[in-house]
Amino acid sequence: MTVLTAPTAPIAGQKPGTSGLRKKTRVFQQAGYLENFVQAIFDGIGSAAGKTYVLGGDGRYFNAEAAQIILKLAAANGAARIIVGQGAILSTPAASHLIRLNKTDGGIILSASHNPGGPDEDFGIKFNTPNGGPAPEAVTEAIFDATTVLTAYRISDAPDVDLDAIGRHDLDGMIVDVVDPVSDYAALMETLFDFPAIRAMFADGFRMRFDAMCAVTGPYARDILERRLGLPEGSVINATPLPDFGGMHPDPNPVWAKALMDEMFGGQAPDFGAASDGDGDRNMVVGAGIYVGPSDSLAVLAANATLAPGYAKGLAGVARSMPTGAAVDRVADALGLRCFETPTGWKFFGTLLDAGLATLCGEESFGTGSDHIREKDGLWAVLFWLNILAVRKQTVAEILTDHWARYGRNYFSRHDFEAIDNTAADGMMTALRAQLPTLPGTLVEGMTVASADDFSYVDPVDGATSVNQGIRIRFDDGSRIVMRLSGTGTAGATLRVYLERFEDDPAQLALDVQAALAPIIRAADAIAGIAAHTGRTAPDVIT
Ligand code: G1P
Ligand code: ZN
Repeated sequence: MTVLTAPTAPIAGQKPGTSGLRKKTRVFQQAGYLENFVQAIFDGIGSAAGKTYVLGGDGRYFNAEAAQIILKLAAANGAARIIVGQGAILSTPAASHLIRLNKTDGGIILSASHNPGGPDEDFGIKFNTPNGGPAPEAVTEAIFDATTVLTAYRISDAPDVDLDAIGRHDLDGMIVDVVDPVSDYAALMETLFDFPAIRAMFADGFRMRFDAMCAVTGPYARDILERRLGLPEGSVINATPLPDFGGMHPDPNPVWAKALMDEMFGGQAPDFGAASDGDGDRNMVVGAGIYVGPSDSLAVLAANATLAPGYAKGLAGVARSMPTGAAVDRVADALGLRCFETPTGWKFFGTLLDAGLATLCGEESFGTGSDHIREKDGLWAVLFWLNILAVRKQTVAEILTDHWARYGRNYFSRHDFEAIDNTAADGMMTALRAQLPTLPGTLVEGMTVASADDFSYVDPVDGATSVNQGIRIRFDDGSRIVMRLSGTGTAGATLRVYLERFEDDPAQLALDVQAALAPIIRAADAIAGIAAHTGRTAPDVIT
């Protein structure tokens, strides 16, 4: 077996976005595309020589082939050992845990998260650092820079490794340890949550539906919820990961997890419903007849954290991404906790978690997590809710209603305008930025603009600065509009409009969210001219 040095040339556009490099699968399948990027990872972080990495993905189309290519690139670059999930499968949270548990030099995760999979859909790859988290911007920039100067990649011509066979394998002198993707992760969950209390609640007839959306969480949910906690078999549906996610769009929100929503709002609704995304880091939770928005979910977890054994000592602090609703800020205020506001993307929580400044983190995009790993974690959030339900012995509706009565309610919604023309989207954002200095003081929809800016962030731990992280428009009544362009899309531009209004009048706490936000929705269009610039009069997805 030999190590080949294959001449190559830089491929344009290999720039990681909010969460790694995402492209259409066929782009990744082009000769040298994946090879170039992985070689650039190794070059960008210095070298792979003598290093140990974790490798796995969400099982989407091209996952298995990509894993074999990466193993051969790693071997030829002198890596000492790769820990791979059986079948090249690892949920993103499980990969993060394995990186930390084995004190490795990082990991490579194959996923396009909640984007659909298949030959005509999306594929993605990202590098995580030794803390288990997504590479920070300095690292992704070094990787990108490396993609622009590549002249060759190194690859072994050894045969494929049998990734279905758990145990130790050899690839050109590099150790390949194929491990069970679930067991270490499940063991971690048992240390954090009150499994006996949850088991007792299930034994008592508590009914739950978990929709794995034909994505990676199926085997994890079956093992933990059904096997370890005794939830009746069959409660986890769409539990077999499929390369095309069975045609589903594995994004756990009320639009894409509609079947679950219908069941939870139907006559025979279970007590609790949950879903997770393609790679298992997102979650949606729903009670019988009541939906829990992600910003509220983070706040409820923070307010009730000490009910879970892993958090019984209390929280060091909380963090949320800037566009996320501020419900958790009110809990932090009440509990005297530090509260951080970061740019969009989980990578910005890493320094806070590493420094022990924050314990819980969350994003409005169905992402919640803690310092147990350095990624958001779908099943962890579901188990946290189950723990709270088991201890408080109340329904989801009762817990939410209590929460709003105590802290007030931050009505929050995100409107997405997808696949819009890039030039139109850029034109709209440029025009909006130009208005920022003159917006304060103007009256829109009966509200006066109090401030308008483009969010800049200085990381409180390492001082790294990130600019242009989203336009924020605040009104004098505390309401807020945020607008930014997505950094994960693969077709055209996606405009995200985040809308928020605080309410603490008891008579107004149970309004329909879109109705409660109606003036703010109209104000967003009045200020930014969304329809005029993009030709779109209504969002494609409302969450
Ligand atoms: C989206 C979400 C963001 C999340 C990211 C990765 O990024 O908005 O909160 O961290 O996916 O899951 P965006 O497409 O908005 O850049
Ligand atoms: Zn994801």
